[in-house]
Amino acid sequence: HELEMSIEQIEKGGFPHFMLKEIHEQSETIADCMRGRLVVEDNKIVLGGISAVTDRLVNARRLIIAACGTSWHAGLVGEYLIESLAKMSVEVEYASEFRYRDPLITEEDVMLVISQSGETADTLAAVREARSKGALVLGICNVVGSTIARETDAGIYTHAGPEIGVASTKAFTAQVTVLAMMAILLGQRRAKLDEKESASIIKAMSEIPAKVAEIMTKFDEVDAIARLFAYAPNFLYLGRSYNFPVALEGALKLKEISYIHAEGYPAAEMKHGPIALIDELMPVVVLAAADHTNDKMISNIEEVRARKGRVIAITTDNNQDVQRLSEFSITVPETHDLLTPLLTVIPLQILSYQIAVYRKCNVDQPRNLAKSVTVE
Ligand code: G6P
Repeated sequence: HELEMSIEQIEKGGFPHFMLKEIHEQSETIADCMRGRLVVEDNKIVLGGISAVTDRLVNARRLIIAACGTSWHAGLVGEYLIESLAKMSVEVEYASEFRYRDPLITEEDVMLVISQSGETADTLAAVREARSKGALVLGICNVVGSTIARETDAGIYTHAGPEIGVASTKAFTAQVTVLAMMAILLGQRRAKLDEKESASIIKAMSEIPAKVAEIMTKFDEVDAIARLFAYAPNFLYLGRSYNFPVALEGALKLKEISYIHAEGYPAAEMKHGPIALIDELMPVVVLAAADHTNDKMISNIEEVRARKGRVIAITTDNNQDVQRLSEFSITVPETHDLLTPLLTVIPLQILSYQIAVYRKCNVDQPRNLAKSVTVE
């Protein structure tokens, strides 16, 4: 037999699934997303796609971010970034819910929609609703020339390349990268971020691709955990602050491709319900960077352990306390606090992927899900 390779196998680039290929691509796709936009030597952010409307954005009364699924989680990370760096009021909405309320949006507001495909019907409906009320509408899309990219006033492409796996991975990290660049630009233009602070975060961003590559070397460590918990019926994910959306995203990945019931929770809310579920069968993934939330996260870990829950910590290299207290831990390199989500999400993508493989699930095309949802 001659060498026969289907187009699909070639497109997968030697990986068994698109999702795994896309997880691996992230150090490059994040770099591609920043190329020409993050100018380290000038301490500057250049976002050509929105340059004509930047003044209106800078002076907006409020920024409303609308999206669905994983893109909505990126929006939540964006809220933390923009509120902290640009001191601008941000609200994040499910695109669908935005339009089913009678939304209070005016010409003084700016709406930012986030969509990998640029075709999600609920997100498109939010775009039309906001535009009809006179708001400036910006988009963060991956697919060039998609409907949302065409119907928004201006936008920024994520440049992550085609994402084929239904569960979004590289599009998410690219969306967060764009949001971080927007937050820095807004912080500078609104005079809320001094030279020194912006230089430190811009430098930290330029180092993210190498740090993502470093996390990929921990694949086997994550795999060992995946093997152990592949048949767990439930998972709980906890995070605080900018790692709370990462907890939601980790849980979503697991539901989508492994069909394991998983919930993401703000760690402080554990005591208001989920703690009742914790016993020796419950894996609890705790996102604990060495930041202002550390003491509180350590108490959460102790509470889970006291109930015999199995703690899987995703933490930073320097966070010895968390590593010592947790049954399992995967560490990521340290970075500027606000950029941690770009790193902590990677082990969670790998965990869900490996669990899905152990459970023999159809990773790239999970049951009942579609890559772009064009019905409302
Ligand atoms: C579908 C996909 C998700 C995605 C969501 C939003 O549900 O399965 O992975 O996050 O749509 O898609 P979008 O293309 O608008 O980002």
